[in-house]
Amino acid sequence: MDKRTILIVEDSRSVAMTCKLQLEPLGHSLLMAETGREALALLRAHPVDCMLLDLKLPDTDGLDILREVRRWPAPPSTVVVTANASLSVAIEAVRLGAFDYLVKPFAAARLTTTVTNALANSELKREVETFRRVVEHDGFGDFIGRSTPMQRVYRTIEAAARSSASVFITGESGTGKELAAQALHRLSPRAGKNIVALNCGAIPRDLLESTIFGHVKGAFTGATSDQEGAAMRANGGTLFLDELGEMDIGLQTKLLRFIQTGQYERVGEGRTRPADIRFVAATNRDPAEAVRQGRMREDLFYRLYVVPLELPPLRDRGEDILLIARRFLETFSKQEGKAFAAFSAEAEARLIAYGWPGNVRQLQNVVRSAVVLNDGVVLTETMLPPLPATPSAPAAASRDAVPKGVDGTEIRRLADVERDYIEHAIRVCDGNIHVAAKKLGISASTIYRKKEGWA
Ligand SMILES: Nc1ncnc2c1ncn2[C@@H]1O[C@H](COP(=O)(O)OP(=O)(O)OP(=O)(O)O)[C@@H](O)[C@H]1O
Ligand SMILES: [Mg+2]
Repeated sequence: MDKRTILIVEDSRSVAMTCKLQLEPLGHSLLMAETGREALALLRAHPVDCMLLDLKLPDTDGLDILREVRRWPAPPSTVVVTANASLSVAIEAVRLGAFDYLVKPFAAARLTTTVTNALANSELKREVETFRRVVEHDGFGDFIGRSTPMQRVYRTIEAAARSSASVFITGESGTGKELAAQALHRLSPRAGKNIVALNCGAIPRDLLESTIFGHVKGAFTGATSDQEGAAMRANGGTLFLDELGEMDIGLQTKLLRFIQTGQYERVGEGRTRPADIRFVAATNRDPAEAVRQGRMREDLFYRLYVVPLELPPLRDRGEDILLIARRFLETFSKQEGKAFAAFSAEAEARLIAYGWPGNVRQLQNVVRSAVVLNDGVVLTETMLPPLPATPSAPAAASRDAVPKGVDGTEIRRLADVERDYIEHAIRVCDGNIHVAAKKLGISASTIYRKKEGWA
């Protein structure tokens, strides 16, 4: 199981410590709260998967916390803890959605098992819920696609949305990073406030500071009036720092201070202002590489890299390519007053075999231009614009061209050798899965199915 977050809500320090020591070996993140207020604050700030909740707290009835969180989109799996055998309360807690209860004093083994089960339950609930939605809509929000790697993306978005933890989105150009930032905001409790997107790469360096923080009249030449910045407009909402990898290093220091303190100053003004902001950053470069090269401050990176969200390249999403293409065909045909209702089988084979270096945006452009320039009901292969030859996928290219493990003494998992060999064959056939499948003596759909499993 991946690393999860467990919140222990317990006012007795000694009981809290005992639970902490017993749960630490599970390897998850542990958060501690002594009061109901602290617990709710932590629940709002972090995606908590399991909550161990003492029902008797100094400031709140534990049941009130349960009543509150059960209304949230993805509440944590809660295990309530009661003193002696006040069973009727425990039963009420379960009726309010608690996963299980423990009666004090409880054995260490019982605690570990119950929490482990609660974590498994929360994972399962989230998977089922996301899957149900994805299957119903062939996607999630504005995202089209139901491939395994995208379902993972949707689950992360859903889980992260309810907290204020910073999200760091990576992915090649055109994979939907902006769409993901919008979804994170729209599904969050901040949805009623603004999401402000800042393209750190497109704003001139000397204007970026005043764009983020605002300025007062006369702060610099051209500052003819007071101007509010993104920080003020995003207050209570989300600030999306797009193309963060392009931000001037000097300004990164100011940004870091802003994130750490939650306070900022307009340019030319002595007074600090508070801001309650959820940060989402995105870059299509490798952020760790940017840190190594000194283009991104390491402390800023770690401050923002709380929930990593990686958008897979389109070529790794299998049949999603067709789901997206068909939806675009429908939309653009309607927009352009055309009659296109479907792609020909050859056109679809071409779309699915192509490497899509520009990802969904490129697919969008290809379908739009085909619709604009042609007429008919079926969009055929010859109507597609020329697709530039692509170098093989970066991930695949970094693997050895010849599969290892067929000589020497190293023994590799058969599944890995098979994967390497199939990827090798696809590369040799210039990314054409259908040709590769024929040469391998298997069907193309077998390759697609296997690709889903690899993601
Ligand atoms: N899964 C998807 N389904 C439908 N449309 C999508 C999907 N992913 C992206 N798009 C659309 O593709 C276009 C590009 O997406 P977006 O701008 O979010 O990409 P990006 O990762 O931010 O790209 P860049 O790195 O170039 O800024 C947008 O029009 C977006 O609506
Ligand atoms: Mg973008």
